[in-house]
Amino acid sequence: MASATPSKGPRRGLLARFGEFLPVTPRTPPLSLGEGDTPLVPAPTLARDVGCDELWLKCEGMNPTGSFKDRGMVVAVAKASEAGAKIAVCASTGNTSASAAAYCAAAKVSCRVVVPEGKVALGKLSQALAHGARIVVLRGNFDAALRAVRALAEKLPIALVNSVNPFRLEGQKTAAFEVIEQLGRVPDGLALPVGNAGNISAYWKGFSEHAGRTGAARPVLYGIQAAGAAPLVSGVPVANPETIATAIRIGHPASWELAVKAKNESGGLFAKVPDEEILRAYGRLAAEAGVFCEPASAAPVAGLLKLARETPNLFRGKVLVAVLTGHGLKDPQTAIAQAPALGPSVADDIDALAEALA
Ligand code: F0G
Repeated sequence: MASATPSKGPRRGLLARFGEFLPVTPRTPPLSLGEGDTPLVPAPTLARDVGCDELWLKCEGMNPTGSFKDRGMVVAVAKASEAGAKIAVCASTGNTSASAAAYCAAAKVSCRVVVPEGKVALGKLSQALAHGARIVVLRGNFDAALRAVRALAEKLPIALVNSVNPFRLEGQKTAAFEVIEQLGRVPDGLALPVGNAGNISAYWKGFSEHAGRTGAARPVLYGIQAAGAAPLVSGVPVANPETIATAIRIGHPASWELAVKAKNESGGLFAKVPDEEILRAYGRLAAEAGVFCEPASAAPVAGLLKLARETPNLFRGKVLVAVLTGHGLKDPQTAIAQAPALGPSVADDIDALAEALA
């Protein structure tokens, strides 16, 4: 058959595509919802304002449950299933719970999630519910919820699938491999939102493994936090984190040391951006690049714009990637609150319609 013939059959998930780099054994179930292989989309007008040569958006919202979490979750749930786990648990600001619920459903593992009260975006909650997870709302924030499930998983025979589970980072590191594959080179810099700090640690692992295999360079990492939840920028935990980017409303990241190591080894930095700048970047991504992401995912673009404003020529000649971690549909309430009012309602009349649309 000619090599140009498109491959048939189901999309190959991460365990199949990157199995040689993942802790899979012959006994690991071939779990897949078709995760990974997400688009890398150019953002020329944002690149111009960042002052770089090229800015690419890694659209992780195109994963099966709409966030990057699926990369780590497929490995964590497959390994839990391989080990005979019947129940998995996670704490979550929303996306982890949606992903855990979906992969547990597919793997026939029972899923329990603990979410902070009142701060989980509607799309995420509806996913966890639809996939049949048992949801407990904790009167406390994400940090408290994570502390609670970690303690629980030590006492009971339950698989913990938060990113403190090393299989999560193994799966998430594949995003770095894909970025290199899609760009045909290692980017000069990579910016991403940082909450619990698993993703930045995983990207660094991926880039470092690639460098070890090929001798290639590694990118500079820019870890962006919301100003009201920026413990890695200040160097001290935040007791009451607050931001409109609820996905990264985290005051005491679990992977703190790994994230600092990644930042230092890459010669990068942590920066914080106020909610207004996150929302401005969120609007520009949708209106100019055609990519609808959730608020937390706009933080890296807001961060690059801020760094470029503060240090002219910082990104001159550079090829940059911003990781857009979750889909805009995750948080319809913020989208609608940010949008201009709906247009007028008109009678079903062609002239009235023409006038309203003029
Ligand atoms: N972006 C989105 C959309 C997220 O959901 C998260 C984390 C992050 C960025 C930050 O990634 O924690 O690896 O630094 N969400 C977790 C959750 C905490 O429960 O869904 P991180």
